[in-house]
Amino acid sequence: MALPLLVGRAGRDPIVARRRTTDGCSDGLVTHRRGKCAILYLKSHFGWDDKVRMNNQSRAAAIAKLRSLPLFSELGDDEIATLAGMVTYRRIPKGAFIVTQNERGGSMYLLVSGRVKVSLASPDGKELALNYLEAPGHFGEMSLVDSEPRSADVIAVSDVEVFALESRDLAAAIQVQPKLALSLIATLSRRLRQTIARLEDMAFHDATHRVMRVLLNVATASYEARGLPVIAGLTHYEIATLAGTSRETASRIISSLVKEGVLATKGRRIVVDLFQLRERLEAE
Ligand code: CMP
Repeated sequence: MALPLLVGRAGRDPIVARRRTTDGCSDGLVTHRRGKCAILYLKSHFGWDDKVRMNNQSRAAAIAKLRSLPLFSELGDDEIATLAGMVTYRRIPKGAFIVTQNERGGSMYLLVSGRVKVSLASPDGKELALNYLEAPGHFGEMSLVDSEPRSADVIAVSDVEVFALESRDLAAAIQVQPKLALSLIATLSRRLRQTIARLEDMAFHDATHRVMRVLLNVATASYEARGLPVIAGLTHYEIATLAGTSRETASRIISSLVKEGVLATKGRRIVVDLFQLRERLEAE
């Protein structure tokens, strides 16, 4: 049987895109295998800009994008310009791997626009989504802080814009904006809390409870960010991978919550009655 391919490019922190196809083995170098997948490095398979060269215009655009991030919005012109000199702007197409589990990590990423998925893949191709992150935010900080290999894959689920900050510049960037350090610590502790909650759900609760918890978390985050308790842009499969269950089970649970009036579907969006869903979870 031909292998599904993981294709990407070699580099200090290879950005790898996974294609579940069986062709194209001939035009790249298979460097290693993970489970049933071959990892194939191609020079520029996806054609996205590794580094967008900075002329004055793009530098001004980069400064504006940096300013659009709440973490840097209050910095003065000189500080923002210093920061802009440290980061590399990258556009990454939907589907590309930005970070690959177990690789050595050379950079962390400030997410300027778009959405990424943090996930783990088992050797037999099963996927466990740890989280979906939306801009503004950051990822890839763990390897920079503890010098261990990447803890998970991070995959662009929409076209994405990021600033990459190399590890040697992290201390200098923190000097420019000390709140960056606090933000890194806050993010780590939030993720640890989420992981503890996830562990608890996996150990003590069934799939119905876990799916409801995912729906509640995503809809609450949407309500806090945009005032609407909706789940948009997540398929039933994605909800299932977040809940650690199958797509069929997640779909069945969602349908029965729709029948009970806890959820309503509007096109591809799910509107959540936060009050009822919370009550249902507490009653479990
Ligand atoms: P790093 O280990 O360098 O590379 C993978 C990144 O995924 C990691 O840094 C974090 O930024 C991010 N990550 C790992 N686990 C989680 C999680 N549970 N929730 C959100 N992001 C995570």
